[in-house]
Amino acid sequence: MQIGTPLSPNATRVMLLGSGELGKEVIIALQRLGVEVIAVDRYKNAPGHQVAHRAHVIDMTNDQALRDLIALEKPHLIVPEIEALNTNTLADIESAEIATVIPTVKAVQLTMNREGIRRLAAEELNLPTSPYAFARSEAELQTAIDAGIGYPCFIKPTMSSSGKGQSRITNANEVKTAWDYAASGGRVNQGVVIVEGQIDFDYEITLLTVRAKNAQGEITTYFCDPIGHLQEKGDYVESWQPQAMTAAALAESKRIAKAVTDSLGGLGLFGVELFVKQDKVWFSEVSPRPHDTGMVTMASQRFSEFDLHARAILGLPVDVSLREPAASAVIYGGQDSLSLVFEDIDKALAVPNSDIRLFGKPESFPRRRMGVALATGKDVAEARLRAKQAAQLVKPKQA
Ligand SMILES: Nc1ncnc2c1ncn2[C@@H]1O[C@H](COP(=O)(O)OP(=O)(O)OP(=O)(O)O)[C@@H](O)[C@H]1O
Ligand SMILES: [Mg+2]
Repeated sequence: MQIGTPLSPNATRVMLLGSGELGKEVIIALQRLGVEVIAVDRYKNAPGHQVAHRAHVIDMTNDQALRDLIALEKPHLIVPEIEALNTNTLADIESAEIATVIPTVKAVQLTMNREGIRRLAAEELNLPTSPYAFARSEAELQTAIDAGIGYPCFIKPTMSSSGKGQSRITNANEVKTAWDYAASGGRVNQGVVIVEGQIDFDYEITLLTVRAKNAQGEITTYFCDPIGHLQEKGDYVESWQPQAMTAAALAESKRIAKAVTDSLGGLGLFGVELFVKQDKVWFSEVSPRPHDTGMVTMASQRFSEFDLHARAILGLPVDVSLREPAASAVIYGGQDSLSLVFEDIDKALAVPNSDIRLFGKPESFPRRRMGVALATGKDVAEARLRAKQAAQLVKPKQA
């Protein structure tokens, strides 16, 4: 494995499709290894644009725009960071051997649609999941609930992320509102929703799972320590590592994560989301890329999930070891603004063992994630307290 000189004809070139806060950290990890990085997003001055060699703004669902940019930049690797992409274009690029899509086109296609990944996990791999059904109308949704999904249940657009268009309902009066919300909240309005029975879990985790080459050049599966997290309105607000688990629950989590990631294939890091109750584990969903709850690894691990992704996709060996317990807490914008100012950063960083990342997003919304506070501690409880304290001390204000 060799890496060329950036900005020279022998450069190793990687193109990020999507350049948000997670892409930004992948880019920094690649830059440190001397890779030439091209950041692409749908809007100007995205977080990753600010740290890449070159930045482009295109509509990544547009076949011609995507093709033209790949022809211009000639990346060796294409790394999708978002789901709203033209995956047919990527399939053509991969089969023409123009570039390698990370981890595989199959993984990108299956995970962009909840139907694809759910059917793979539950019906092909026979992994435990919540009871589920797909509905194409409000009437079909009601029928599916009555036929066995029951209440409470979750209704989600099949094409969405970060809780968009998602609701939890407890009775029949709420079905219409949930249907309308899902139909309008989907990314690409396909008009298909998934309804899932509620799993009464004790806690939920993300198991970061890495497919990387070992010293013999064989693809091997590595697991980071489990990450616990708290979700509000379908979006993560706090995460910590390690999450304490029984040996049986951890073994079952690894079995499920291995089965899913083996099936998706390729090289890279995956975020496998699981629900846990005592020794029982249910598969929820998987990201074929670094996961938002995994930002905690910037404080907890010797190599963050972003470093691990960068190394794995380049064919380099990985080290998934935990260094110390840590936690992350999200910093929201709290308001609509095009020129937010973050006050009291000094106070936040006076919290022992704390750190922050401000993503540099040009536009703020009340519930937009603008940054994250990180902290380590002697145990997870101490780390969580510190991370939450640091996040709360940061005061986003209108300039
Ligand atoms: N069937 C379920 N039973 C219990 N809780 C659920 C279920 N489905 C979703 N949830 C809760 O809602 C959260 C978000 O759901 P999910 O991960 O499917 O949405 P998402 O939009 O993909 O979110 P993200 O992009 O942030 O991962 C879960 O982490 C869990 O806390
Ligand atoms: Mg999720």
